[in-house]
Amino acid sequence: MDYKSLINTTNLPKHIAVIMDGNGRWAKDHGKARIFGHKHGVKSVRSVVEGAGEIGLKFITLYAFSTENWNRPKVEVAALMQLLVSTISNEVTELNKSNVRLLTIGDLDSLPNNCCKELERAIESTKNNTGLTLVLALSYSSKWEITRAVKNIAVKIKNGDLLPNEINEKLIETHLQTFMIPDPELLIRTSGENRISNYLLWQIAYSELYFTEKLWPDFTKEDLFEAIVNFQKRERRFGLTSEQLKN
Ligand code: FPP
Repeated sequence: MDYKSLINTTNLPKHIAVIMDGNGRWAKDHGKARIFGHKHGVKSVRSVVEGAGEIGLKFITLYAFSTENWNRPKVEVAALMQLLVSTISNEVTELNKSNVRLLTIGDLDSLPNNCCKELERAIESTKNNTGLTLVLALSYSSKWEITRAVKNIAVKIKNGDLLPNEINEKLIETHLQTFMIPDPELLIRTSGENRISNYLLWQIAYSELYFTEKLWPDFTKEDLFEAIVNFQKRERRFGLTSEQLKN
C-alpha cells in the first residue's frame, strides 16, 4: 500500500512523538547483542526523519534515552552514548542539507561530556533551519521535567517574582522544556507495548495514541506514513460530542 499518497498534507499532525521500542528484541531475534539492535535502530531514525521531511511535518520528538535507561548494564549505556555521538557527528551535514533543526529535551548535564559537546555543536549548526524540527529526548522523563518545572516556579514565588494565584496551565507550560514546541497530536510506540513510559505526560493530554507490533529497527518511513493515515481517519473530540464538531 502506498500510504504516502493517501496523506492529506494540509492536515498533518503538528507534532509526532515516538517511543522507539524493541531494539533489544530485534537483536535477539537475529542472534546478536543488544547494541546491534540499537545500531539498526539508527537506520529507522534516518528513514523516519527523511519521511517526515518529505511530507512537510514540522515537529518530531524521538525518545532516545530515558532517565530509567541509566539503570541498564553499563556496557549498553556506554555503547548507546557512543552511538549517539557518532550518529550526530555523521548526520549533521545531512540534517543541514535537509533543512532539519535539531533540539533536545532532558537532563543533558547528566550525559557524558563528549555527548553534550557533539549535541551542542549540532544544535548550533542547525539552528537556522526552517523545515522539520527533530527533538531528541535524552536522559528524559516526564516526571523529571515536571519536577524541574515545579522547582523553578517555587523559586520565582520565593523570590517574590510570582504570586501563587498567577499559576495556571499556560504558566506551567512555559516552565516545561517543550515550551517552544506544540503538543504532540500523535504518539507512536513500536514493539507491541501499550505503555507511555514516563514520556511527555503533560504534553500528550489530547494526543492520539498509535501502537504497532513492528520492532523499531523494522520501522520505516512507510510505517510512519501508515500511522499518519490512521491518525487522519480519527475524529478528535477534545471532550466535545461528535455532533458539536459537525456544527
Ligand atoms: C528501546 O529499545 C530503544 C532505546 C532505549 C534506545 C533508542 C536508541 C536508538 C534507536 C539509537 C540512537 C538514536 C538516535 C536518535 C541517534 P529496547 O532496547 O528497550 O528494546 P527491547 O524492549 O526489545 O529490549
